[in-house]
Amino acid sequence: MSAGAGGLAGPAAAAGVVVGEQTLVLGIETSCDETAAALVLGGHDVVSSVVSTQVDLHAQFGGVVPEIASRAHLDLLNPLIARAVVEAGVDESRIDAVACTVGPGLIGALLVGVSAAKALALTWGVPFVGVNHMEAHLYAAFLEDPTLEFPLVVLLVSGGHTMLVEMEGHGRYRLLGETIDDAAGEAFDKVARFLGLGYPGGPAIDREAERGNPEAIAFPRALLNDGLHFSFSGLKTAVMNHVRKHPQVSSADVAASFQAAVVDVLVHKARRAAEQVGARGLVLGGGVAANSLLRERFTTMCAEAGLRGMLPSRAMCTDNAAMIAAAGWHRLRSDGPTALDAGAYPNLRLPLLP
Ligand code: KG4
Ligand code: ZN
Repeated sequence: MSAGAGGLAGPAAAAGVVVGEQTLVLGIETSCDETAAALVLGGHDVVSSVVSTQVDLHAQFGGVVPEIASRAHLDLLNPLIARAVVEAGVDESRIDAVACTVGPGLIGALLVGVSAAKALALTWGVPFVGVNHMEAHLYAAFLEDPTLEFPLVVLLVSGGHTMLVEMEGHGRYRLLGETIDDAAGEAFDKVARFLGLGYPGGPAIDREAERGNPEAIAFPRALLNDGLHFSFSGLKTAVMNHVRKHPQVSSADVAASFQAAVVDVLVHKARRAAEQVGARGLVLGGGVAANSLLRERFTTMCAEAGLRGMLPSRAMCTDNAAMIAAAGWHRLRSDGPTALDAGAYPNLRLPLLP
C-alpha cells in the first residue's frame, strides 16, 4: 500500500496511517436503494465512480422495500467494486483505505456494505473507515470544488433529511435549522405517490412540473419568515385537500405549484442562513438538490445576494460512493481508522459542535 504525501500528525498518524494527496480511498455506499463504489484520490479527485440504482426493483411497490434492497446490494456490490477498480485502471494493491457508510440508513442494507468493506480492509491490510452518510453529502461539493472556503453553509435536502448546516471547518458542524416534520424529499415522494406519478417521486414531480403553471395554486409556504426550521407536512396535506376538492385539476399544475412552494422556502432560508453566519459560500447537497427548479432558483439567488454558490452535479447530489470516499479521507485524517468491531447505525446523527 502506498503512503500518501503531505500527511498530518494526529490520530491517523498515531495509527500508522499517513493521509495525504496520494491516498487512494475506496468508497462504498449501500444505505438505501443505491449500490455504489468509487475510488477517490486525496479526498477530492474522483478516479472512478459507479452507481447501480435499484429503482426498477422497488417501483412496483411504490417505495423502497428494505428486504429487497438488502438482497439486491448483496448481488450488486462485489461486481460494482470490481468495476470501480477496473475503471480506475489501478491494481487493488494501490488502495490505501476502505470507507463505507455506517449510517443513517436501512440496517440490512447498511450491513451489506459494512461487512464487505471490513472484509476488504482486512484482506488488503488497510484501514477501514466508517462514514456518516449525511456528512458525506456535505462533502459532495468538495469533489467538484476543493477550493471552497469556510465558513460554508450547506442546504442538505434528501429523502430523510432537510437541514441547514454551517461548516466551520472540516468535521466542524453547526445545525442552523432542520425540518420539524417531513423532509423535503419525503414530501416530493408522498405527493408524487398521491398524484399517481410513481416512484421515486422527486424526479417524477420535476418532469410533470415542466408542463404546469407554478402559479396555478397558491400552496402554503410554512415558516417562510420564521427562523431557519422547515415544515413540509402541512403543504403535503394542502395538496391532498386541493386535489380532493378539485378532482379535475391538472396534475401538472399541482406538481408545478407544489414544487414552487417547496423551492421558495428552501431558497429563501438558505439565503437567510448564509447571510446570518457571513458564509463565504453556499452549497446544495442531497437528492432534492437534483431538482431543476431548485437549481435554477438557487443560482439566481446566489447571484442576486452576491454569494459564492456551489451546485454539485446531479450525479454528486444523489447517493454515490465518491462522496463516501471523500468524507472517509477526511475522517481517516482527523480520527484515524474505525475499529473493525464497530457496527452499523440506522439512526446515526450528524456529529455537531457543542
Ligand atoms: O440523497 P438521496 O439520493 O437519498 C437519501 O439519502 O435520502 O435523496 C433521495 C431523495 C428522494 O426523496 C427523491 O425523490 C429526491 O431525493 N429527488 C428529487 C429529485 N431527484 C431526487 N427531488 C426533487 N427533484 C428531483 N429531481
Ligand atoms: Zn443520501
